[in-house]
Amino acid sequence: MTDHDALSREIRELAKERDAIILAHTYQRAEVQDVADLVGDSLGLAREAAATDASVIVFAGVHFMAETAKILAPDRTVLLPEPRAGCPMADMLTADQLRAWKAEYPGVPVVTYVNSTAEVKAESDVCVTSANAVAVVRSLDTQKILFAPDRNLGHWIARSLPDVEVVLWDGWCPTHEQVTPEQVREARGAHPDAVVLAHPECRPEVVDLADHVLSTSQMIRHVASSDAPEFVIVTETGIVHGLQKAAPGKAFHELAPRMICPNMKLTTLEKVRASLAEGLGEIDVDEVIATRARAAVERMVAIG
Ligand code: 13P
Ligand code: SF4
Repeated sequence: MTDHDALSREIRELAKERDAIILAHTYQRAEVQDVADLVGDSLGLAREAAATDASVIVFAGVHFMAETAKILAPDRTVLLPEPRAGCPMADMLTADQLRAWKAEYPGVPVVTYVNSTAEVKAESDVCVTSANAVAVVRSLDTQKILFAPDRNLGHWIARSLPDVEVVLWDGWCPTHEQVTPEQVREARGAHPDAVVLAHPECRPEVVDLADHVLSTSQMIRHVASSDAPEFVIVTETGIVHGLQKAAPGKAFHELAPRMICPNMKLTTLEKVRASLAEGLGEIDVDEVIATRARAAVERMVAIG
């Protein structure tokens, strides 16, 4: 039995005692994914948080994800095992900045990526994730939107919906932004038969080189249903664990160097155990902010 096995067993027992559900993002460490009740992307996990009967939600992910869970399940205790696990992209836009930006474009809907703070969501008309961004914006039936904070996902929406003018906030994900077209070309050269899957947080010139542009859950579904035996994966390395489980026997090649989100890697089994045992990392969202943010998130959940 490994150390991970013993810790995982202890965590499962604690979760039962505390009436807790453990949700893990697809970028988490493999052993943290394996101890979770559910592994998913930000949309799937938000939906699960809204639906769960458990008294406690342990969120193995980053701060905005746990905050979104609290917004959707205000009467549950939400724990983020590693409170320092933030998302630099979410911190690239404050509510004050958004209010000032909105004032320049009166009447234009504000569409916000869930990778944002509760205060920013509260100033938004609707949220999106990378899994539903295009569908949500299409459903607005509008000619112009403000999109924040991820300029790359905004580019992808604009490219997918040429009739919509997308005004972009200048935010980005450091992990996806640093990928270069050369890295993708190199991976293609090394694996000429592989299908290239990229996350829309990558820069447009990287997205242009992909065969498919997919959110993390869409990648997992894609590799399971595709006939292709080999893929180049252009997103955070944690997803490879889920891809291998979804499509055992297929080959998943990563870029060199591997893409790592340091914040996603802060959560360890030890921290999950401590959080459950001692109630550490409780997330709280101001009620007025939460009510306004909930409207934007629920509008998204209702659409797609
Ligand atoms: P997903 O919405 O695909 O889960 O992505 C979240 C994220 O943080 C990607 O960097
Ligand atoms: Fe934020 Fe990027 Fe990490 Fe996702 S991968 S949590 S967008 S820093």
